[in-house]
Amino acid sequence: MSLADGRTRDLRLAGLHKQYPNGFAAVQSLDLEIPQGSFFALLGPSGCGKTTTLRMVAGLEVPTAGTIHIGDQDITHEKPYKRPVNTVFQNYALFPHLTIAENVEFGPRRRGEKDVSAQAKEILELTELTEQASKKPAQLSGGQQQRVALARALINRPEVLLLDEPLGALDLKLRRAMQIELKRIQEEVGLTFVHVTHDQEEAMTMADTVAVMNLGVIEQMGTPYELYTNPRTTFVANFLGRSNLIKGTVLGREGSGADAVVKVDMHGTVVTISAARVHTESSEGWVGIRPEKVLIQPEGTPIDAPGDHFSGAVVTGSSYIGVSTEYELLMPWGQEITCFEQNTGRRGGLVPVGTRVDVSWRPEFAFLLDSSQDAEAGIQET
Ligand SMILES: Nc1ncnc2c1ncn2[C@@H]1O[C@H](COP(=O)(O)OP(=O)(O)O)[C@@H](O)[C@H]1O
Ligand SMILES: [Mg+2]
Repeated sequence: MSLADGRTRDLRLAGLHKQYPNGFAAVQSLDLEIPQGSFFALLGPSGCGKTTTLRMVAGLEVPTAGTIHIGDQDITHEKPYKRPVNTVFQNYALFPHLTIAENVEFGPRRRGEKDVSAQAKEILELTELTEQASKKPAQLSGGQQQRVALARALINRPEVLLLDEPLGALDLKLRRAMQIELKRIQEEVGLTFVHVTHDQEEAMTMADTVAVMNLGVIEQMGTPYELYTNPRTTFVANFLGRSNLIKGTVLGREGSGADAVVKVDMHGTVVTISAARVHTESSEGWVGIRPEKVLIQPEGTPIDAPGDHFSGAVVTGSSYIGVSTEYELLMPWGQEITCFEQNTGRRGGLVPVGTRVDVSWRPEFAFLLDSSQDAEAGIQET
């Protein structure tokens, strides 16, 4: 996006690096371009360097190397209060003795701005706090207090709003409601939002673009759809949703252009993978398939949308979740894989544990990852 004069105000991090005094490199050669006006999520497990990255953008931490630009303005060494950036933290500190309106007006009043009440009125409306304006923070719910923290940042009209796990303290139901609310506010004000979270569902539902971070580096960046359907690493495949990863040997490439495919021998069965989803140069790889793409049928009955096909699997477990059922399948080569089946009712019941089943998936959904990567990377403990 660009301004009337054609200049963009995108946020650009180039070669950004942070080594703490104890020698630990929390962020390593980070390159990111965040388009002006976008809702961008930085997603990764605890300790991967998300907060460190935000603190460098806010000017609260000095980078060891690299630069930070907003448009063509270099803000790498700018004082925090001079940056067109505001941060909303999980542990927002509201002034307990001030009303909600006074909390929101605090910043602009201190700077001696005019029309502060009118500005606050507008922001309180935007954040749906008008009716709470004369209350004290202690009289508000957690979700409302979080909205006050947001209002207090928005009234400063930053170009970039940094949100560091802002919904982390809220319970699940409120969290989901606030996700929708935050997204609406971002669309209304059109500012660049950089939202940090360890919750993959939160990142996927809110953001236009998600960058998946692990151990101080960005593993992959893209739309939620791109990341989910075409993960490039085992970490992304496991951290964003779930994946079955099965050892395979690359046999060769066939076709060209968009039709190019790679043939892989998977424990004696040849499967086909679109070349656009092949992310290894090696002769060995992990064949990846999402559990909901795995179709099963009791042995001998036809499969709905047959593709690459395996017989001789056995159902070893099932959990009925109402909307769907999760099956554990023991494959003939001794590995357990997972299948999520939508409960459309067509089956008229569950497939009993112990049933021998045929297994199939459409080849266009499979992907191939590098075998040197840990197949367990990114799996979250529950
Ligand atoms: N001041 C510090 N000194 C040394 N190590 C730190 C400091 N702050 C954070 N770290 C370490 O840097 C890593 C990244 O931290 P952080 O950016 O807070 O991660 P996240 O926000 O993704 O959980 C962690 O391993 C953390 O322990
Ligand atoms: Mg953090």
